[in-house]
Amino acid sequence: MNETQSRDLMVELAASLFARGFAVGSAGNISMRVDDGFLITPTNSSLGRLDPARIAKLDHAFHHVSGDPPSKEVFMHRAFYVTRADAGAIVHLHSTLATAVACLPDVNTDNPIPPLTPYFVMRVGRRLPVIPYFRPGDPAMEPAIKAAAPDARAVLLANHGPVVSGKTLLDAVYAAEELEEAAKLYLTLRGSAPRVLTPAQVNELLETFG
Ligand code: 13P
Repeated sequence: MNETQSRDLMVELAASLFARGFAVGSAGNISMRVDDGFLITPTNSSLGRLDPARIAKLDHAFHHVSGDPPSKEVFMHRAFYVTRADAGAIVHLHSTLATAVACLPDVNTDNPIPPLTPYFVMRVGRRLPVIPYFRPGDPAMEPAIKAAAPDARAVLLANHGPVVSGKTLLDAVYAAEELEEAAKLYLTLRGSAPRVLTPAQVNELLETFG
């Protein structure tokens, strides 16, 4: 995929997330690797109406080289890229139900959502650490994400929302969508005692689908 196609795909998928309510206002940001650096959504832009020509471009050292000023959460994306060689794209959302789980004080902060469905496990993986609260744009978030990311494709920022990595932009978007669905199931079933996938079933999924 060349850079023009990457920009167009970012606009298309961001608009799709926005249209379905996974992002509102100017919340959320998306980035992806390209040959000579990274593309990232501009700060204060709406995922619903991105302009491909104005998407910010960063070099390999995460310095802004062109386009509008980048998201104030560049360091949040950088924390995944420098920690996970397999990360080709990052999606950060304030999607309602994943964020609701991130507001619950009594969850397991290593893995707040149990393995209820195969696609949650296949897309998001075995662990979803909850990172303590930092204000949006606080660079102190970076070391906290870096500490968690080697063992996790995604994290939940307390009282803020999910950050999800994927090998490709499509993978990261699909994972963010599955995370929101898993949060919905978890909150729907909270208080009951649902059957969850066994450790052997989780292992089989990860061995089969990676
Ligand atoms: P930016 O507009 O700077 O990307 O910030 C939006 C956001 O989601 C903060 O967490």
